[in-house]
Amino acid sequence: MRIRYKQWAVDYLKEHPEIVIDKIDFNNPFFKEHIYYEIGSGKGEFITDYALKHKDLNFLAVERAQTIAGMMAKRLEENEVKNVRVFPYDGEVVFEQTPEKSVDAIFLNFVDPWPKKKHAKRRLTYHTFLEEYYRMLKLGGEIYFKSDNDSLYEFTLEEIPLTKFKLVLAEEDYIFDEKNDAMTGYESKFRSLGQKIHRIVFKKE
Ligand SMILES: C[S@@+](CC[C@H](N)C(=O)[O-])C[C@H]1O[C@@H](n2cnc3c(N)ncnc32)[C@H](O)[C@@H]1O
Repeated sequence: MRIRYKQWAVDYLKEHPEIVIDKIDFNNPFFKEHIYYEIGSGKGEFITDYALKHKDLNFLAVERAQTIAGMMAKRLEENEVKNVRVFPYDGEVVFEQTPEKSVDAIFLNFVDPWPKKKHAKRRLTYHTFLEEYYRMLKLGGEIYFKSDNDSLYEFTLEEIPLTKFKLVLAEEDYIFDEKNDAMTGYESKFRSLGQKIHRIVFKKE
């Protein structure tokens, strides 16, 4: 997602410590019960709606682009979402700060496909990333992946068997579940163009 730098959005991050955190601390009660992560949240369309539909859960929305993270924080505030914290850093920082067996589930929504083969290691479903997710997840924890991208979908299905994850389901044409799921920004765009959305669920057993 290419977005021009917006000073107000970067300032917004600094001005809203009640939503934006700069450290993942599992001593903080916010992380204690049920905590779900989304990596690469974009402007927060998904996490805003999902969190409002699932008020019994807490969410950490990770977005490394400061302007985009600021736009997400504003959206959360305007929608009076209380159960999400924005973490405006790279996923790598999340891995460093998250203890093992601590996270209930991770959303990977329309992560960057990095189409060139030489960039495969940057895809957030490359097996080294999957191993980090495996370490952070509690037993029974799941990964929810959605994408419009055929190659990334196939690639992810090839990476999963390289890890200890168990595949739960792979849907080439996911019918949106209005009641339980939420639409991401990219998903709305691609669905309006008539494109198929792929979905994969895999689990730590
Ligand atoms: C293609 S956009 C999708 C946004 C959103 N999930 C959606 O479906 O509308 C991917 C987003 O992930 C962010 N991103 C990519 N790699 C990341 C990483 N390693 N850590 C945190 N954010 C990342 C990008 O800045 C971008 O905003």
